[in-house]
Amino acid sequence: MRKRLVAGNWKMNTDLNDGFKLLKEILHNVREPELKDCDVHIYAPFTHLKIFHNSLNGSGITLGAQNCHHKEGGAYTGEVSAQMLTSVPVESVLVGHSERRAYCGETNEILAEKVTTALANGLNVIYCYGETLEERESDQHFDVVKSQIEEGTAHLTEEQWAKVTLAYEPVWAIGTGKTASAEQAQEIHAYSRKVLEGISSASVAQNTRILYGGSVKPNNAGELFSMEDIDGGLIGGAALNAESFAGIITA
Ligand code: PGA
Repeated sequence: MRKRLVAGNWKMNTDLNDGFKLLKEILHNVREPELKDCDVHIYAPFTHLKIFHNSLNGSGITLGAQNCHHKEGGAYTGEVSAQMLTSVPVESVLVGHSERRAYCGETNEILAEKVTTALANGLNVIYCYGETLEERESDQHFDVVKSQIEEGTAHLTEEQWAKVTLAYEPVWAIGTGKTASAEQAQEIHAYSRKVLEGISSASVAQNTRILYGGSVKPNNAGELFSMEDIDGGLIGGAALNAESFAGIITA
């Protein structure tokens, strides 16, 4: 059985003071029994990680970063390496979020290297993928999803897959208030498992968690998470409010 996972992606929001306040509210709102049935991750800005690590200690909530560099280290001014994250320590990292693909030119090839570097440094990975509106409207969404998964992760071993979660995030649903219907999301999630089986094995396809992301809110989370192949959510906007984040975990 795949355990549910709800992950909050804070993006470039909150300064350290506001972020710390929000973290305290989340710790207050998320009830311990729920953590038995559902893993909870928070992907915070780099500047917040050390102090968040200290506060989350023993809470059962996992701390993650939103990115790391694909190279191990060296002359990459302004970048943060996977090893730096491990030293915080941070347990997990987002790779391939559509905003980084679109604004930072991250290609599947770079992302494949990034997944390898993150895993080699002991981090877990949430690998994100998803089509744009244009790609969906021109009926290319299956091909796009397939190539993003294959080119970013086909090199992984079964052992490495145990540390990787996928997150399907249709770009047209991110931050737009437009959610994919539960059926649309389920269709891509089921297809993603087929792709996974093709590049790895039936057991990897069955055991890998696949999250849905894109305007998930407390009032639509229940329906999305009830679908057979949807194992939880990657939450942006609604993760910035402790009550709505907790509402999604309850769902
Ligand atoms: P959203 O963002 O929930 O605000 O749509 C999701 C994401 O980008 O991970």
